[in-house]
Amino acid sequence: MTALTDYVNFEKRGRIGMIVVDYPPVNALSHAVRLGIQKGIEAAAADDAVKAVVLLCKGRTFFAGADITEFGKPMKDPGLREVLETVEGSTKPVVAALHGTALGGGLETALACHYRVCNPTARVGLPEVKLGILPGAGGTQRLPRVVGVERALKMIVSGDPILAKDGLSDGLVDEVVEGDLTEGAIAFAEKIVDEGRPAVKISERDEKVAAARGKPEIFENFRKSIARKSRGFEAPENCIKTVEAAVNMPFAEGMAEERRLFEELYVGQQSAAQRYFFFAERQAAKIPDVPADTKRRPIASAGIIGAGTMGGGIAMNFANVGIPVTLVEATQEALDRGIAVIAKNYATSVSRGSIDQATMDKRMAQISGTTDYAVLADKDIVIEAVFEEMGLKKEIFGKLDKVCKKGAILASNTSTLDVDEIAASTSRPEDVIGLHFFSPANVMRLLEIVRGKKTAKDVIATSMDLAKAIRKVGVLVGVCDGFVGNRMLAARGREAEALVLEGAMPEDVDRVIFDFGFPMGPFAMADLAGLDVGWRIRQGKGMTSEVPDSLCELGRFGQKTGAGYYKYEGRNAVPDQVTRDIVLKASKNAGIERRSIDDQEILERCLFPMVNEGAKILEEGLAIRPSDIDVVWVYGYGWPVYRGGPMFWADSIGLDKVVERMRSFRDQFGDQWEPAPLLERLASEGKGFKDYKG
Ligand SMILES: NC(=O)c1ccc[n+]([C@@H]2O[C@H](COP(=O)([O-])OP(=O)(O)OC[C@H]3O[C@@H](n4cnc5c(N)ncnc54)[C@H](O)[C@@H]3O)[C@@H](O)[C@H]2O)c1
Repeated sequence: MTALTDYVNFEKRGRIGMIVVDYPPVNALSHAVRLGIQKGIEAAAADDAVKAVVLLCKGRTFFAGADITEFGKPMKDPGLREVLETVEGSTKPVVAALHGTALGGGLETALACHYRVCNPTARVGLPEVKLGILPGAGGTQRLPRVVGVERALKMIVSGDPILAKDGLSDGLVDEVVEGDLTEGAIAFAEKIVDEGRPAVKISERDEKVAAARGKPEIFENFRKSIARKSRGFEAPENCIKTVEAAVNMPFAEGMAEERRLFEELYVGQQSAAQRYFFFAERQAAKIPDVPADTKRRPIASAGIIGAGTMGGGIAMNFANVGIPVTLVEATQEALDRGIAVIAKNYATSVSRGSIDQATMDKRMAQISGTTDYAVLADKDIVIEAVFEEMGLKKEIFGKLDKVCKKGAILASNTSTLDVDEIAASTSRPEDVIGLHFFSPANVMRLLEIVRGKKTAKDVIATSMDLAKAIRKVGVLVGVCDGFVGNRMLAARGREAEALVLEGAMPEDVDRVIFDFGFPMGPFAMADLAGLDVGWRIRQGKGMTSEVPDSLCELGRFGQKTGAGYYKYEGRNAVPDQVTRDIVLKASKNAGIERRSIDDQEILERCLFPMVNEGAKILEEGLAIRPSDIDVVWVYGYGWPVYRGGPMFWADSIGLDKVVERMRSFRDQFGDQWEPAPLLERLASEGKGFKDYKG
């Protein structure tokens, strides 16, 4: 055995040379690894006894991708492209042995080898698009030459991995090894040598790309098929162009085109935002005062109180990952209704083909229901999702305190109420926490985890882990009205309503917010959530808001009644004269002379208050870091990930410019525009939220 670099060895097994990489945890293609591969190929070339080479990785996976710690730094030679040229250029056949997840540069490396074997569970994919870039080491040129244009487009543009063995018929892999992968790969290499098979260069294969030549409709149809999902993103289009290049250009030119299109994305704002967000999401899992080794409480069973909109969705999350869950309702009727909704949701997934009937049956079997609180006695966690009324919640937590076993986590899905006050209705406030799911709770990825004053650290740690277990992204926040997400949403809502009174129509505001990249604007969102919710809250507090109040008085509660701010033709929102008349009247009643408001003002008026509120949230210690706020907004409200989140976005504009605009709005519209002290301070120091250290 010869050490080629710190992480790469060269071994010989008879006629077979083996390049063995061992760079835990995921064999990232760092400089030492790249150099090792190159040296390995050179070592094999120099040794006459070696007739073929096996490239394999130790540990849990083949190369899982680039080394993310090298991001943003100049690439140290040799770069991956150069190494892969050496690999493909080897006159001795190179066999890649795939296990785990061969992603990004990992798959590109495998494609530069002449043959590929895999174990049955190995997955391969090119996820670069998710970071706003594209595979830049030949992946876009080699993959279509192997799997064909349509399949390559799908893989490159979705970024989603596939099982390597599913590529057997295409030649993506040449053999699936059932037993020991290393032995299987060596046996395969021996066979190649025995049969005198050549070192097949994918770059020289043409038949699959030739099949798509002169058929631009393939690309046009594909563009159409992804248009809705990829709206606003730049990377998918560049990905498509690279595959077009693979079809229409010789390999070397296609490689140059790949490089050009890669560079274009790499230096752009979107990939900066998406790479930032990749780290932001991982960072959110770290809680400074909760050590990583905090002992977790086991969660093997769950109870949910309330089988309404939220309770049902929350229950599905547990059932989906095999945790048995019991719904507790006030009446049998409400329970039956709730469980029927869950069954209907699963049935829709079955009819769409996203799950099969057996999976649905398995999930439904995890869900039970009752009206008897006594069943909660042995549950590891109970999540309350009843009406948003403090009295009711306190009563329920009082009951839970009596019924639940010692050490059970008692959680509330409240979206606005004081978690400390709820906790105080029990004798064990340390076990109480807010778990704020977003609607639809079985779909939205965000889970705001609301830490009360007395919440125990192990309850926090367990909740963060639970989020991951049920495939959510947990963000720890503190107690305040609306927590992080809804508090910032309220700031946006306030300005959106003001804009409408001053001269914009709801559809103008919605268009600007939609074009910015949100799935919908504030008024379409209000129609979706139901205007009656806010109306009831205002009535309870003795408050009014003329436009939505008037809509509600007409029975226009939004989508569910067929009209709200908009009229609904099916799911299509159509601007409505009734709303316009109400708006004009409201302006008049408020003594406002309407003016024309441009799109830039609409955007700044809606989004700068969110940035300001975010700054206050940080100052008040209610979010750990600015990037956590960004995670809340991307996963909870559809902030376009290619703009990073509100705090990243503000940084990208420059906080000095944000503050300057806010001051001018303050002079025009009043003190609600006063910049938060933190925002002022960072701006005056020429800093951004990225520099904020808490
Ligand atoms: N709807 C949303 O978008 C949303 C989002 C996040 C959080 N929340 C919060 O989730 C909670 C539930 O909201 P929802 O929209 O699901 O309401 P919902 O009205 O759809 O459901 C509430 C359910 O609780 C049941 N219930 C009432 N009293 C009960 C009791 N004593 N015991 C057992 N069940 C009882 C009701 O029968 C009803 O089925 C609220 O606190 C709300 O603020 C809602």
